[in-house]
Amino acid sequence: MKLTLRRPDDWHLHLRDGDMLAAVLPHTAARFARAIVMPNLAPPVTTTAAALAYRERILAALPAGSDFEPLMTLYLTDNTLAEEIHRAAASGAVFGVKLYPAGATTNSDSGVTHLRHCDAVLAAMEEAGMVLQVHGEVTAPGIDVFDRERVFIERVLAPAVERFPQLKVVFEHVTTADAVEFVRGARDGIAATVTPQHMLLNRNALFAGGLRPHHYCLPVLKAERHREAVLAAATSGSARFFLGTDSAPHTRGSKESSCGCAGIYSAPVGIEIYAEAFEQAGALDRLEAFASEHGARFYGLPLNDTTITLERRDWMPPAEYAAGADTLVPFRAGETVRWQLVAA
Ligand code: DOR
Ligand code: ZN
Repeated sequence: MKLTLRRPDDWHLHLRDGDMLAAVLPHTAARFARAIVMPNLAPPVTTTAAALAYRERILAALPAGSDFEPLMTLYLTDNTLAEEIHRAAASGAVFGVKLYPAGATTNSDSGVTHLRHCDAVLAAMEEAGMVLQVHGEVTAPGIDVFDRERVFIERVLAPAVERFPQLKVVFEHVTTADAVEFVRGARDGIAATVTPQHMLLNRNALFAGGLRPHHYCLPVLKAERHREAVLAAATSGSARFFLGTDSAPHTRGSKESSCGCAGIYSAPVGIEIYAEAFEQAGALDRLEAFASEHGARFYGLPLNDTTITLERRDWMPPAEYAAGADTLVPFRAGETVRWQLVAA
């Protein structure tokens, strides 16, 4: 069986820089027409000038002939100025501003300590129609790691969405029934990205026969009832939910470590495993809207006019890929993937 889709976009992606960028970019560019590129480099991409320079490095790393388009973002800090939002909007190359609560995840030390510090910036974004992309977890040490998303909604997100009633917000990588319910019931202008791992895996996958560092990401995998809610939302046909892989490469050594990094490198199977998830849910007919339409419409961008074709044929991603002198272990390394990309 073959499935031809309008070419999809990835609305949440980590590409890194240097050798890592060169290693991972071809996997995304082979599948997706565009991607929202996350700004959590070290140091983070906090200015339009830095975002434009990063964009040039990405374009220079593309395989010959690729017309993949990186959609850039800025990293919000307590010190971001409203003028920076005006510059970003005027550039035509910056499509959002990412909120990382300080300490929430990889390279988030410069993140926001209290969102109230950013009210002038949020007002400028609201005015400019610039999307706020939210890593929705509180970082207070007293909050259980599995409750961080739910508490973030109560303490930070719901109040912010009310304070700025026109602000467009993407609740990134939703992982809980609470987040799904919030997005479904929210005012216009609120949407969410969904990763493949949060549709396919629950937290048991972290401990299947031993500790599984390649299944560790943030927000961490949740209990089965939350996975079911996330899968149901993504496959429901609601335009508020769209594809964002959160593919987040870390070297094998930094994953298989006494203090391993968070992130699942899914780009090499980036559309194929969504097809698996939609097939499991009996919703293959809704994959195209989720992968190729809802996100573009939310961001106010044209739909892609080319296609890709997947075939229902088992294959196995390799155990690892080279990345400079290091290696990268992809999601589903050495396991069966049920769909294969056959034309793009
Ligand atoms: O698992 C994750 N990895 N979650 C994030 O929020 C960041 C990402 C990364 O950059 O490695
Ligand atoms: Zn991410």
